[in-house]
Amino acid sequence: MHLKDKTVLVTGGGRGLGRAYCEALSKAGASVVVADIRETQDTVETIISRGGKAIGLSLDVTDMLSCQNMADRAIKEYGNIHCLVNNAALYGDISGGRFDQLRDDQWDNVMAVNVKGIWQCCKACVPYLRKSGGGSIINISSLAATFGMPYALDYATSKAAVIGLTRSLARELGRDWIRVNAVAPSAVLTEGTNEFMGEKKEKTLQIISEGQSLKSNLRTEDMTGTIIYLASDDSKFVTGQTIMVDGGTVML
Ligand SMILES: NC(=O)c1ccc[n+]([C@@H]2O[C@H](COP(=O)([O-])OP(=O)(O)OC[C@H]3O[C@@H](n4cnc5c(N)ncnc54)[C@H](O)[C@@H]3O)[C@@H](O)[C@H]2O)c1
Repeated sequence: MHLKDKTVLVTGGGRGLGRAYCEALSKAGASVVVADIRETQDTVETIISRGGKAIGLSLDVTDMLSCQNMADRAIKEYGNIHCLVNNAALYGDISGGRFDQLRDDQWDNVMAVNVKGIWQCCKACVPYLRKSGGGSIINISSLAATFGMPYALDYATSKAAVIGLTRSLARELGRDWIRVNAVAPSAVLTEGTNEFMGEKKEKTLQIISEGQSLKSNLRTEDMTGTIIYLASDDSKFVTGQTIMVDGGTVML
């Protein structure tokens, strides 16, 4: 129970990878706040049915008031915040396309959720992390940022921005013992991936696995250990890093 007595907030915890993080964090002992613009009930009920602690709430990361409400609700319910997992993103919800055919509103929406949304959740939670004497912020980037991705320039650029945000915030918040790290997964078969890749899914996943040192596709359960490690005190001297969970595609 690495995370006993820790409160962890997961944005985008209603489905896919975010949901897997919530369930795994709870199994490791954390009290979990499941926040999403989508329904969170299934995630919360699953955790509670297994004896864990969780609350669900509606969050729109593009709305600062909504982010503040998430942080305040977590404090009201659990009394403190130790870790924020910034997982919410426009991924399954975007359509992609040639770089010169993306519309302005597509570009702006992706930046508003995937980059500004993280900044806003950090602004809401950092004062409470300081009060807890420090903590951990985990930002979800992507192989799209570390390797590049054609026909998704808005998405790949937003995920690269997450790495810059992570490094700068890590430098700024070190004095408060708040660690800030990013995780960059390769492709995992989630509802989001089904929507994002559509009929090209099988072929794309095959190409991705061929480019890896470990020749199989990443599974949801392969992601959770890295999240638990970064949320826990086991990583207490690790900050500003981007951990690639990509089977050895990008090696730094
Ligand atoms: N699945 C993959 O292959 C893969 C690979 C690399 C990185 N990622 C990243 O992992 C994360 C989760 O991906 P996923 O596969 O579960 O896809 P997903 O599309 O299901 O995840 C996004 C989640 O964010 C939520 N969300 C979207 N807009 C929001 C908003 N404005 N406010 C609050 N919540 C909002 C969605 O409702 C959803 O639950 C994303 O950050 C994604 O970019 C995924």
